Amino acid sequence: MANDLALITLQEPLSPQSEAYRTLRINLQYASLDEALDTLLVTSVGPDEGKTTSLANLAVTLAQAEQRVIVVDCDLRRPQVHQLFGLPNDRGLTTAILDEQALQAPSLQHTGIENLRVLTSGPLPQRPADLLGSRRMATLIETLKEQADMVLFDAPPVMSATDAAMLATQVDAVLLVVSAGQTRREDSLLAIERLQKVKARIIGALLQNAPAIKASGY
Ligand SMILES: Nc1ncnc2c1ncn2[C@@H]1O[C@H](COP(=O)(O)OP(=O)(O)OP(=O)(O)O)[C@@H](O)[C@H]1O
Ligand SMILES: [Mg+2]
Repeated sequence: MANDLALITLQEPLSPQSEAYRTLRINLQYASLDEALDTLLVTSVGPDEGKTTSLANLAVTLAQAEQRVIVVDCDLRRPQVHQLFGLPNDRGLTTAILDEQALQAPSLQHTGIENLRVLTSGPLPQRPADLLGSRRMATLIETLKEQADMVLFDAPPVMSATDAAMLATQVDAVLLVVSAGQTRREDSLLAIERLQKVKARIIGALLQNAPAIKASGY
């Protein structure tokens, strides 16, 4: 059973927040006219800025528009996707990468939301960055792309590990979540610099906790 409190797009589809996610979906559709946009990494500068919540709501919004969506939990330090969707996590990304058969047929789990499947993190590895940068990870991404219109990747913060930058090189684009009153401007610039260094395509920033959206019904 999904954690509906975090999934406002399911719980309150008419809210301004849900409307904002639909606008984001449309913007992503426009962006995909220029260059392929089949894989998207969602990350942020630091911890607790709303990455997982934003990603899950974007995933729901895309699925509601009948896009086949796969969410992959690549936060192999503090995985949260399984909790948010109320799923077991004994198998997932890490077990897929370690096993040839699972690599060809990863354990995608249904969420109860039509068009939306999840590959949870699986048991946590010793060295997440090695795993995320491996050739087998690249193979897995190709396999997932064949099974979805959009694959969304959750990741640790840009500034706390190399994982996000590593993944950024393997996806079509990166969406940076920025938390109003929390993310510091200087840190954002450092994070952007770090992503640009690996030639990531930063497609935009998503503002979380904006006071106007929180307070107003319109
Ligand atoms: N727009 C929002 N309004 C209010 N609370 C929010 C919002 N977005 C996220 N939260 C809450 O903030 C907390 C952190 O959110 P979330 O887990 O999505 O962040 P995160 O960036 O993925 O964190 P981590 O760095 O641990 O991966 C959660 O308790 C979540 O429910
Ligand atoms: Mg998270």
